[in-house]
This record gives sequence, C-alpha cells and structure tokens, in this order.
Amino acid sequence: MSVLNGKHIVLGLSGGVACYKAAELTRLLTKAGASVQVVMSEAAEHFITPTTMQAVSGRAVYTSQWDGRESNAMPHINLSREADAMLIAPCSADFLAQLAQGRCTELLGLLCVARPMDKVALLLAPAMNREMWAHPATQRNLAQAVADGAVSLGVGCGSQACGETGDGRMLEPEEIVQELEVFFTPKLLAGERVLITAGPTYEAIDPVRGITNRSSGKMGFAVARAAREAGAEVTLVAGPVALATPRGVTRIDVQSAQNMLEIVDQQAPEATVFIATAAVADWRPAAVALHKIKKDGGGAAPQLGLVENPDILARVAASARARSGVLYCVGFAAESENLLEHARAKRERKGVPLLVGNIGPATFGQDDNALLLVDSAGSHELAHASKRELGRQLVVELAHRLAAARGRNPEGVNP
Ligand code: C5P
Repeated sequence: MSVLNGKHIVLGLSGGVACYKAAELTRLLTKAGASVQVVMSEAAEHFITPTTMQAVSGRAVYTSQWDGRESNAMPHINLSREADAMLIAPCSADFLAQLAQGRCTELLGLLCVARPMDKVALLLAPAMNREMWAHPATQRNLAQAVADGAVSLGVGCGSQACGETGDGRMLEPEEIVQELEVFFTPKLLAGERVLITAGPTYEAIDPVRGITNRSSGKMGFAVARAAREAGAEVTLVAGPVALATPRGVTRIDVQSAQNMLEIVDQQAPEATVFIATAAVADWRPAAVALHKIKKDGGGAAPQLGLVENPDILARVAASARARSGVLYCVGFAAESENLLEHARAKRERKGVPLLVGNIGPATFGQDDNALLLVDSAGSHELAHASKRELGRQLVVELAHRLAAARGRNPEGVNP
C-alpha cells in the first residue's frame, strides 16, 4: 500500500503548458489511494479545463475565492485545513513571484498563505521556459518561497513546448508521485549511507556471447527506492537490467562480477549498510575470446573452462568495518527449496547479521515476491506482496535491527 493512501492533497494548478500533465498526475495520486482537491488559477484555465480536472479527481474544482458553495464563504480556510499537503503543479514563474510576496489576489495564492504552516506542507513543481527558470528574479522568488517554508521538488531537463531545450520542464507525473512518497515516508534511515547491488552479472565468453541469469533487478531496485524514501543516501550498483533509476538514487552500472566487486570495493568504505541483492554469477569463463568463436562445421563444441567468481558479500562482510558493526551487511539467497535451512546456512557461511531468503524460480522477473528474514533471533516471514511493498517492509525491519545494533532508537522506530 502506498504511503499516499488516505492522504488528502490539494493540487494547485497555475498557468503553463505543463497543466496537461496535471490530469495524469491526479490519476496517479488517486490510484495510490490519495484524495485530490484541485484548485486552479485563472491562467491555468487557459491550458486545461476544470471539467477535465473534475472528471479525473472526482471532485468539483475550485477556481475562485468567491465560490458560493462554501456555506461560510471561506474556501481558503476550509480547503487548506483539510489538506495533508498542498502541491502546486505546475508552479509558474508568476506564481513563484506571488508566493515570494505572499499575494492573495487569487484563491490559489490565498490558500498558500492561509494554510497552517506547521501542519500542511507546500510542495512546488516549477514549470517554465529555460530562460524564465534561469532568470535571477525567478531564482530569487523560489529561494524566498523555500525560505518561507515551501519545498521545491526541482525541475526536469529536456525539450520544451517552446522548442527550446534545457532546465525548467515540470517533473513527470510519476516523478512527482515518487517525490510525494519520499515526503510522506518516515525517515527511519536518516544518516545512513546504503550501498546495494542488484540484478544479474554478465560474464562474457566472447564479444557477442556470455553467461548470465534471469534476475531482473526489481527487488534490489525496490529496496533502493524504499531506502531513499526512508532518508538514506543510496548508491545502487546495477548489473545489466532494463529498469529506471529510482529518483534520488546514485546508480553505477556494471557488467561482470569482477566489475561489481571493483565498484563495491570503492564504495563500501563510505557505506554504513551493504545490501547484496544481486544474483552474481558463480562462475565466469576462464578466458574471454577476443573475437566471436566460430562454428567449424565439424560438430565440435568449444570447451569452456570456468573459474569461480569472487564472493562480493562474503568479502565485504569479512572487512574490519563490517565485523565491528559500523557496516551492517544484508545478504539475499535465491533458493529453489528448503528456504529456511539454506538461508540459515548461508547466513553463517557469509558471516552476515541478516540474510533474506526467497524462492528464486518463483520470483525472478516477477513484480511480487515473499521474503524470509533470518537473523540471530530466528526467522520472520514477509508475506507475499509486490516487490515495492516488500522493499518498504524490509527497510522498516532493517531500521529496527540497525537501531538495536547501534544502541539507539531512531525517531519513528518502535522497538
Ligand atoms: O552464494 P549465493 O550466491 O547463493 O549467495 C547469495 C548472496 O551472496 C546474495 O546476497 C548475493 O548478492 C551475494 N553474492 C555475492 N557475490 C557472489 C555470489 C553471491 O555478493 N559471487
């Protein structure tokens, strides 16, 4: 279940072409379980109709502070008191100027000023032409709005409706939803630097062939996203996978187990948590052919000599930082049967405090999974759910164990 489930969002639209994305944004928010009350400026109505926004939000849209539907004639008070957060998307250059001055000439600006600042966050998704975005007045107004308590979600970079290319595009609806999820997630991993390996590795035989496996990387990417939502700084070392990088996560792509080891060796000294979800190939060809190996027509197959790959997790777990508890290591085990027995044995063999077992053939490439957590206290099952949900649950479990291992009680973790 999304952290947005049950949240009430006031979505404000100011004038800009990006208004066309607000309908999709509303759809995604309602799909995540949020209720959305749309408020539009007069300029926004030039770009998208209140009828469309009413249809996708399922609620009548407010456009005027003189709206007669509110019996006390105070939509600015009523709407802002109900909200868990206000999101302005798109937030135009002019609206930033209004915010910087605290102008209340239209309902949208009035709502921002009238909101209870300690309870209702104001999130901004700016959208404008790159020159407008770069203008010192815009940056000054944004800085003022942020100093006054607003949160800027930032802008995207790319082609713009005007035909120019650069910074100033509104974030995509999916990215805004990710940012809202980050905003509402308790920061159980604040201060942690989490290093995660994910996906398969690819061990080349020759320039066109290689040995790999069916790991999709989805579980590791879900853990990376959840860790970032929980406030950690996250570095994701990814084997060859076709997945989008979660927002705010630093991604380093690798191919082979040896590449992965090299990057992990570089990054691990900075990390406080290492989570090895990658399905690292156990063996690699002893030698990589420089050119494509040709069939000779005689029916003889090439003899592939294999050598064992380094065990990345076991190496990191054996380091002084891991043994002293400064670096907390989590292993994953993909098994095909006797999960508990194999997971327990693997935990001992790898020397890690927490080992997460799953049934490999049932989960590779799928969007859902079930996990079995094995630590010194015993085992605990995380029931069948989406990988996204399991990633979040695993982060909560991890936060409990980190708190215990470090003798502290981070905010929001109930021991
Ligand atoms: O030994 P096995 O591959 O089953 O162990 C799985 C765990 O060890 C996973 O966490 C995996 O990422 C890690 N591993 C590793 N390097 C290897 C093999 C496995 O980091 N060469």
